[in-house]
Amino acid sequence: MDKIALLKQKSEAALLGGGSKRIEDQHKKGKLTARERLQLLLDEGSFEEIGKFVTHRSRDFGMDKEIYMGDGVVTGYGSINGRLVYVFSQDFTVFGGSLSETHAEKICKIMDLAMENGAPLIGLNDSGGARIQEGVVSLGGYADIFYRNVKASGVIPQISAIMGPCAGGAVYSPAITDFILMVEHTSYMFVTGPNVVKTVTHENVSSEELGGAHTHASKSGVTHFATANEIECIENIKKLVSYMPQNCEDDAPVYPYEAGDESRPKLNHIVPENANQPYDIKEVIEEVADAGSFLEVHKDFAENIVVGFARIAGRSIGIVANQPAMLAGVLDINSSKKGARFVRFCDAFNIPLLVLVDVPGFLPGTDQEWNGIIINGAKLLYALSEATVPKVTVITRKAYGGAYDVMNSKHIGADMNYAWPTSEIAVMGAKGAAEIIFKKEIAAAEDHDGKWKEKEMEYLEKFANPYMAAARGFVDEVIMPENTRIKLIKTFKMLENKVASMPKRKHGNIPL
Ligand code: HXC
Repeated sequence: MDKIALLKQKSEAALLGGGSKRIEDQHKKGKLTARERLQLLLDEGSFEEIGKFVTHRSRDFGMDKEIYMGDGVVTGYGSINGRLVYVFSQDFTVFGGSLSETHAEKICKIMDLAMENGAPLIGLNDSGGARIQEGVVSLGGYADIFYRNVKASGVIPQISAIMGPCAGGAVYSPAITDFILMVEHTSYMFVTGPNVVKTVTHENVSSEELGGAHTHASKSGVTHFATANEIECIENIKKLVSYMPQNCEDDAPVYPYEAGDESRPKLNHIVPENANQPYDIKEVIEEVADAGSFLEVHKDFAENIVVGFARIAGRSIGIVANQPAMLAGVLDINSSKKGARFVRFCDAFNIPLLVLVDVPGFLPGTDQEWNGIIINGAKLLYALSEATVPKVTVITRKAYGGAYDVMNSKHIGADMNYAWPTSEIAVMGAKGAAEIIFKKEIAAAEDHDGKWKEKEMEYLEKFANPYMAAARGFVDEVIMPENTRIKLIKTFKMLENKVASMPKRKHGNIPL
C-alpha cells in the first residue's frame, strides 16, 4: 500500500475507536465519545494527539484478533482559553474504556509531560476498570497513575470528570486529584458495585443510588460538581480552570476589570436585627465579588459552609464562608473537611483567601463526638493556620468560642480582620453565658426568667459587639458593611506581594 495511504488508513481507524456500532451505542446512552468530549473541552483546532497508534500487547483470550488504534484512551494536549492543558479521555467504545498496560502508559506519559511543563491535567473518565484479559499488568498500570497523581498533587492542578463508569480501585486516581465532576444519570463511582453490596450487606441499591452524581455531591462529598449533562460538565471544567494558575509557582490569570462605584449599600441590610434569624451568606458573596464571578464548589455537601472561587477586581480568590441559612452556620465534621480541603487547594496554588464569619460554634451531639469532631474540626484550623497566601477575614455577625479562633482569626495568621458593627465576638451566646456565670443569682431570684433575661442583656451589651476585639487589635477595623467590597479590593491589592513561609520540615501532619 502507498505509504501516505497507510498513514491515512491508520488515522481514520484511530478516529473510529471501537467502531461505528459502538459509537452509536455510546450516543444512545446519552454519552458523547472520547473525541467529541475533547472537542468541546479544548479551543478549536488546539488539540494535538499523542500515542494515536498505540495498541495493546496482550494476546490471550482472543485479544490478538481485536486490535484498536489508541487502545481505549485519547491522550494529548491543547488549550482552554489559550492556556495549555494536558488531557486524557477514555474511550468506552474500545473494551469498555478498560485500562490495559499500554492504556496506562499513555496516561502516564501525559502526566509526566504535564508535571515537567507545569500545566493542569484533565482526565475524562469512562471506563469498565482494569482490562480483565490482562491481569496484574493492568493493576500495575493503575498504581503507576496513582503514584503520579500523588507526586503531582499541589504541583499542578488535577481535575477529573467522571462521564461513565468508574469503579473498583480505579476510583482512587480521581480521589487523589483536586476536583471531581460527575454527570447525573450516566456516571457512577463506587469501590464495590450493587451486586457485591447485595451479597455482603444484603442491601438492595441501584448504581445511581450507590454512587451516582447526586449521591456523591450530597452524601459522600466525593464529587465537587454534579452536572446535568456532559456539556454542562465540560463547561464547568473550563470555568474552574479559569481561576487557577498553571502550576504552584504561577499566579492565576487576572481578568480585565474597570473600577466603578464599589460601594454596596445592600450589604447594610442583609444581617437581620434578630441575631438568631438566618440569612443567606451567598447574598454577601454576590455583593463583594465581581459581578457573576462566584463559582460555588461542593454546593450540595455540608451546606452549612460555603466554599468557592470568585474574583475581586479581576483577581482570583477562594472564599470560605459560614452559612447562617443552614444549621445556623455551625461547624461540624463535614463542613470542616470541606473547608479544609478547599483552603489547602487555594494555598497550594497561590489563591488568596477570603473568610466570611458568622458561626455559633461547633455542633454538639454524640454523632459528632463519636465520629470525631475533635480530629475533623481540627482540619480546618490546621489548614487555615498553615496557609501562607493572603488571608482576609470579615466577621458579619457571630464569632463564638473555638470557632472564632478557627475561622481565620488574627491569632492563626490572618493578615487583615474586619468586623461589621453587627458582629458578636464572644466565648458563647449570651443566653448560655448568663446561665453559667450568673447561675446562683438566677436561682436565688424570685423571678428566675426575668433575672436570666436581665443577665443575658448585660452579657449581650458587653460582648455582643466587635469593639472589645477591636480594642485588642484582634480586629483591624470595624467597617460599614457597604464599604466591604472597596475595603477588600484595597486589602488584597496591598497583600499582593505577601511573602510568608512555614518552618522547614518534610511535611506537616494534618490530623487526617
Ligand atoms: C475488558 C471490558 C471491561 C473490562 C467492559 N468491557 N469492561 N473488557 N475489561 N474491565 C467490554 C465488554 O466486554 C464489552 O465488549 C464492552 O466493554 C462494553 O461493555 P458492556 O458490558 O457491553 O457495557 P455496559 O452494559 O454499559 O456495562 C459497562 C460495565 C460492565 C458496567 C462497565 O462492562 C462491567 O461490569 N464491566 C466489568 C467491570 C469490572 O468488573 N471491572 C474490573 C473491576 S476491578 P464488547 O466487545 O461487547 O463491546 C478493577 C480493579 C482496578 O477495576 C484496580 C486498581 C487498583
